[in-house]
Amino acid sequence: MNDDGTTQEQESAALLSFYQWCKNAILDWEKNDTQSGKPLGHDVFLPLMTAQVTALPSGHEFFIEGADTILEAGLRGGLALNYGCSNGICGLCKARVISGEVKKMRQHDYVLTEAEKSLGYILSCCNTAVTDVTIEAEEAEGVYDIPEQQIPVRIKKIDHPNDEVIIVSAKTPRTKRLRFLAGQQAQLSFDDIGSGNYSIASCPCDDMNLQFHITNNSDDPVANHLNNDARVNDTIRLRGPIGSFTLNENSPNSLVFIAQDNGFAPVKGLIEHAMALDSAENIHLYWIASGNDGHYLHNLCRSWNDALDNFYYTRINDDGNNHWMEAFIADLRSNHDNPLALDYYLCAGQGITAQIGSYLAENGIPDSQLKTDTQMYSLQQGPGQ
Ligand code: FES
Repeated sequence: MNDDGTTQEQESAALLSFYQWCKNAILDWEKNDTQSGKPLGHDVFLPLMTAQVTALPSGHEFFIEGADTILEAGLRGGLALNYGCSNGICGLCKARVISGEVKKMRQHDYVLTEAEKSLGYILSCCNTAVTDVTIEAEEAEGVYDIPEQQIPVRIKKIDHPNDEVIIVSAKTPRTKRLRFLAGQQAQLSFDDIGSGNYSIASCPCDDMNLQFHITNNSDDPVANHLNNDARVNDTIRLRGPIGSFTLNENSPNSLVFIAQDNGFAPVKGLIEHAMALDSAENIHLYWIASGNDGHYLHNLCRSWNDALDNFYYTRINDDGNNHWMEAFIADLRSNHDNPLALDYYLCAGQGITAQIGSYLAENGIPDSQLKTDTQMYSLQQGPGQ
């Protein structure tokens, strides 16, 4: 019961009818507005609305809220929609409206032909939905559907959460964002300094804000430069994406992620993507690291654990005596009745990968349910590791 005596059901029903009234108000206004080309409702009502978008042929669904474009909402919902400039220039985000009402949010330079318009084509980066809509839109099905991109990104922040890791936050230009799949990596280079490949530790649902967890290795020129000379707003040349340590989105299984040290980087991207998709029944993260501050984003993992009913976090200390393996097996057995109904994603060094791989194989887990990336883990450590 609310303070004013109404029930929560009554409050929800009132809100729903208010949203519907807003949507109808916009549509009515637009029918009558022949002067400005920009209806009053655009500014007043769009920030309040929610609509459901269904993308065909995949059948993926997502919600669009407020003044988000269909493209922004789709990416936030975990879809790998086809796009390029995000700004109405390239035409790559073209989609066909099958049913429902959309609203153009901004003018675009890309010219749709009259035939395309009559068939219902729109640019998803320039339109929002004002009712529930169904669209036909291209989505990447795998890493080969994503072209290589070269983007100058700016350093936003450099953090040293412990002595071993440098966290770099970087921002792409608004009109040249990085299209990638969660878990992939990119090559970063500084002019006249050097380059290296590093996992992207952020989610494609936020394609302008990228994060990398780079090993603080003095043999790595990129790490050295970040430690000594690089400053906020400096440019890093990014080339990518690279790699195929990505989520199998067609699997109905719950997900187990196992990371060693900063093998957590791609795992973090995968977990954030799985959360955006919201399709896995359960997600369990095992993070194996040594020392008091080896789990350098422990608070983030704990906050996921506290906020989400279907997320579990187990922190495992690697004391160098293989006790981590006993702890991992005990926790897996006590929390998962059926280990055969899980998909495992493992980013660790060769030793841990071999031990966990053998254990899972001995327990009947098929190869197809274990995805590993030791190569990415070694690259993450930098040269000479
Ligand atoms: S992404 Fe380039 S026009 Fe929409």
